[in-house]
Amino acid sequence: MSVAALVLAAGRGERLGHTLPKAYVPLAGSPILLHALRGLAAVDGIYRLTPVIAAADLAHFRKLPFGPQEAQADRLTEPVFGGVERQESVRAGLESLPADCRFVAVHDAARPLVRPEAVRRVIEVARQKGAALLASPVSDTLKRVREGVVVETPRRSEFWAAQTPQVFAVDLLREALDAATRSGRQATDDAQAVEWLGRSVAVVEGDPDNLKLTHPGDLEVAEAWLARHGCPGAISD
Ligand code: CTP
Ligand code: MG
Repeated sequence: MSVAALVLAAGRGERLGHTLPKAYVPLAGSPILLHALRGLAAVDGIYRLTPVIAAADLAHFRKLPFGPQEAQADRLTEPVFGGVERQESVRAGLESLPADCRFVAVHDAARPLVRPEAVRRVIEVARQKGAALLASPVSDTLKRVREGVVVETPRRSEFWAAQTPQVFAVDLLREALDAATRSGRQATDDAQAVEWLGRSVAVVEGDPDNLKLTHPGDLEVAEAWLARHGCPGAISD
């Protein structure tokens, strides 16, 4: 039972404030999107890897220096064009999957440090349970704040920061996103749409350093991480 992966790269990266769209910003010599693709391409269980990009970025995409790592065994498909909202981009990616594809891993290109070991773990659990995400326990004490005043300090042990990839049975994710779209709701992540159906999503502990690059300072942190650990996708099976 193989898994198709969608790598979402259709966002604009406004908060990063770079002249290039976020997926094409260089990180330790390679565009962010290539790092993310490599992290997933190193996982044997992924038989198909589809970038979801903005139509306006096609020229940037065509200039990506794909190497054998990302393109191996024809697993890398042509890109699919995403939408204005992330949820639309995921739906466009889902529509491109072949009918016999049973599981899909949805990953944000904005998380280029993802480790293949963690991807394998979340795929394994999703195959058993139908839906699973990577997450890491939060270390800060969280406060619920209204109008500048603390109204509650929730129990920290119950809070996990969601990451990607998130892996689902394709039919389940389709049903969840169709329902969200019909009701006019945009989920913050794919798991939320599945939760809205009343279905459970298993949590798999990921690495706290599977950072999402959002603000300019995040690029410096990721560069330092790569200088210390090397590219996670370069670790072979
Ligand atoms: N994404 C997407 N399609 C969209 C919006 C987002 O494929 N319409 C992708 C982004 O490319 C990113 C991931 O979803 O890999 C998470 O989004 P985020 O970190 O918010 O990235 P951007 O939307 O690009 O950044 P910003 O919100 O700062 O513009
Ligand atoms: Mg965004």
